[in-house]
This record gives sequence, structure tokens and C-alpha cells, in this order.
Amino acid sequence: MSFADIAGDARVLWRMLRGQPRRGSHADRLAAFYAPQAERYDHFRARLLQGRDELIEALDIPAGARVVELGCGTGSNLAALDRACPLAGLASVQLVDLCAPLLAVARARTAGLGNVEVVEADATTWRPDIPVDRVYLSYALTMMPDWQAVLANAQAMLAPGGRIGVVDFHLPDGAGRLGKLFWRRWFGHDGVRLSERHLPALRAHFDEVMSLERRAALPYLPVLRAPYYLYVGGKAA
Ligand SMILES: C[S@@+](CC[C@H](N)C(=O)[O-])C[C@H]1O[C@@H](n2cnc3c(N)ncnc32)[C@H](O)[C@@H]1O
Repeated sequence: MSFADIAGDARVLWRMLRGQPRRGSHADRLAAFYAPQAERYDHFRARLLQGRDELIEALDIPAGARVVELGCGTGSNLAALDRACPLAGLASVQLVDLCAPLLAVARARTAGLGNVEVVEADATTWRPDIPVDRVYLSYALTMMPDWQAVLANAQAMLAPGGRIGVVDFHLPDGAGRLGKLFWRRWFGHDGVRLSERHLPALRAHFDEVMSLERRAALPYLPVLRAPYYLYVGGKAA
């Protein structure tokens, strides 16, 4: 890694150590947390947020599909989407997020892509004009306080036979009481609300296609392994 990379990581880590501000609206807190990291977000999160490419591949996206990402951040998952199903062949891609500083990066990244739209909106309420074939959230559900409303909204925007994909940190049964307490506190400092309820709620809302539970190494902390899951579910046809 170059000196510039290490300096960039230090800036991101400093913001993470200070935690997410406690005051203001949800959108204000996200903006205050992410604005100082926006430029270096992708480099750091590439090592922290694992399983994203695999989730998008597992969504089995057909050519001509309408696709939505809720909580898209900088739009960095677009490259994986393009590998899984070339963007030019998709009917539409809508990238939705509430955080203006991260969306500025997403807008720069998608400039000139006619079928890709970047939308500043709340995932609990935003809906596409017509139902879509795939919806995915990558490390976003845990940052959405009203995650139940987001899942209900995702289900409503999917066409019959459509699929949802979620990859995120969580609290598996095997983590134990102390482990759960540790991870809840650790992530909670940065506004990431780990829960043991997300995966069961997904299973209750959708017909399971794939469900995997794993642990991820954390940058600069080789001893710790954070629990995460990948889930793909279908909406009944
Ligand atoms: C950890 S980031 C993940 C970004 C991206 N999906 C990725 O994999 O790099 C979580 C994202 O969720 C967004 N977010 C949080 N609450 C939201 C809400 N209610 N509506 C839309 N986006 C939201 C944040 O602004 C942030 O960009």
C-alpha cells in the first residue's frame, strides 16, 4: 500500500473512531459521518465489506432486468453488477441513498450511463414508478433505523417472481451473549445497528434461494472476525 493509501485509511479510521454524530436528522448524521470519508470510502470498505460481488452474482440477474440498490453509497457495487450482467443490457438501474456526500461520488461514477439513475431518497418510502426485478442492499440494512419498513418497501417494489439480495453484518445465534454485546457496541458506535432479527425477517418475507453465514477479517485488526450473512430470496410469482 502506498503512503497516500495509508494516509487515506487513517482519515477514515479517525472518523470511525469518533463515531456517528448523535444529533440531527438521520440524513444529517449520515452526511456528517460520511462527508470526511467520501473520497476514501471505496478503498477502505473494499476490505471491510465482504461478499458484495458474490451476492450480486447470486442474484442471477437476467438481461433486460430492472434493478434497484437501496443504500448504494458511492455506487461502488456497479462494477460487480456490470460483471454479473452487463449494464448496457439492463432496462434500468436505480441507485438510492439518503447521504448527499456519498451520492456525489455515485453521480460522478455514473455520468454518461443513460440507464443508470442516482436517487437521493429514503429507502423506507421511495418507490420506483414500475415494479422491478431485483433489489439489493449491501451493508445498508444495519444503517437503516426503520429496517422493517425498508424490507416491506423492498417487497412491495418487487415484481412477482423478483428477487431480493442482502449482505450485511449481523448477530448469529452462535455469537454468545458477550460476543453479541461486543459486536453491538463496536458497530453501534458508527451507527451500524447489528441485529439477530434481520435474517429471520428476510426468511419470513421471502422464499429463500440462498442463505450463508460467515465471518470477515477486519482491516488492521487481524484477530477479530465480524459475523456477516448473504441472503437471496424470491417474491412469489
Ligand atoms: C455502509 S454503507 C454501504 C454502501 C454501499 N451499499 C456499499 O456496499 O458500499 C450504508 C449506506 O446506507 C445508506 N442509508 C442509511 N439509511 C438510509 C435510508 N434510510 N435510506 C437510504 N439510504 C440509507 C447510507 O447513507 C450509506 O450510504
